[in-house]
Amino acid sequence: MTSFPKELTDKFTNTPTPFYYYDLELLDSTLRSMNKEAGRYGYVVHYALKANADRTILDRIMASGLGADCVSGNEVTRAAESGFASDRIVFAGVGKSDEEILTGLENNIHSFNCESIQELKVIDELAGATNKIAPVALRLNPNVSANTHKYITTGLEENKFGINQWELETIIEKLKTLRNIRLIGLHFHIGSQITDLTAFKSLCIKINEFQQWFRMHRIEIPNLNVGGGLGIDYHEPDKHSIVDFASFFRLFHDFLDVYPGQKVHFELGRAVVAQCGTLISKVLYIKNGVNTNFMILDAGMTELIRPALYQAYHKIENISNSGGESERYDVVGPICESSDCFGKAQLLPVTKRGDLIAIRSTGAYGEVMSSNYNLREKVKAYYSSDFLSSSKKEKPLSSSEY
Ligand code: LLP
Repeated sequence: MTSFPKELTDKFTNTPTPFYYYDLELLDSTLRSMNKEAGRYGYVVHYALKANADRTILDRIMASGLGADCVSGNEVTRAAESGFASDRIVFAGVGKSDEEILTGLENNIHSFNCESIQELKVIDELAGATNKIAPVALRLNPNVSANTHKYITTGLEENKFGINQWELETIIEKLKTLRNIRLIGLHFHIGSQITDLTAFKSLCIKINEFQQWFRMHRIEIPNLNVGGGLGIDYHEPDKHSIVDFASFFRLFHDFLDVYPGQKVHFELGRAVVAQCGTLISKVLYIKNGVNTNFMILDAGMTELIRPALYQAYHKIENISNSGGESERYDVVGPICESSDCFGKAQLLPVTKRGDLIAIRSTGAYGEVMSSNYNLREKVKAYYSSDFLSSSKKEKPLSSSEY
């Protein structure tokens, strides 16, 4: 079994823990693979900033030629500041405030992915007041199950997201009266961490049906945005450090009806950045419980909330000691919550105070979801380039190199 590179342990010794470590070479290889596979079909990929909005990471993603998918006014601003072309920024979200809509309008973004008739009216008013025509994609709820954790399922009618099929007639009638909005496409997103690709096949079939409806009504749809959601392998991060982009994009090519002149857009977050990030933490104490040993780390749910919130699995490795005898540990953080646990009964090499622990696959929805609960300090991020001699420091590749 492969594991986190041991040679880094020595280099980490003098770095205050906990911290996030990002492997920029892996990020670049992931971007290269994704761009190659999406490029075969002329697909446009927008990176979902919500997964990780770290500026160094964004620089590289922008340089590789991706667009940006944002869910807040601040994300739109961050994307624009990072150099993402405005006509490649899309803005989704079920509750955009007036201020956030104005930010989108000021930045002349590619589209507002609009989630309700109420929102359409507000966008129209604000666009009118600022003498703009707002480009809008209707986010439709396809009622397709993503077979993933219920907190990250978005495409079912019971979820708060999107416009339901039965509302379409009303929406289309309304759109005819809104003078400051231009319908430029349809948007879908069924959920996150989807590893069973058949969910995406069901999505394609549903989109094809929606398209028939729009064609029947003679409404042109120049853009199809199929969202994100491609899952990664949390159990074997080294074996599958880059996801199978080829099968993912091929599936859309095989099953999605695309009419002449239409562009297909994706919004991928996790699949781009999850595997390049690792949370590095130090063991504070080993405490013997009644039925278990507690390995108490200096990182907690404030740095990585996924295990507490979604019972998510992240591979845990002792990078100071990988051999010898093993023992089972409940690996926990220092926060005053019983849910502050990274993994129960984890079989790990016998561990002692001061050992470094790597919590893998934390590049997506890790650092961005951190909090100051218990008045904890925000942790720092380090990059593979920080641990190289200056002559070897990596620069972002130019888009032609991806
Ligand atoms: N597009 C929309 C409209 C979304 O809501 C999301 C994620 C994405 C794209 C990107 O999805 P991805 O490719 O990353 O799966 N915090 C959770 C995940 C929440 C996902 C929210 N929306 C987690 O840690 O698993």
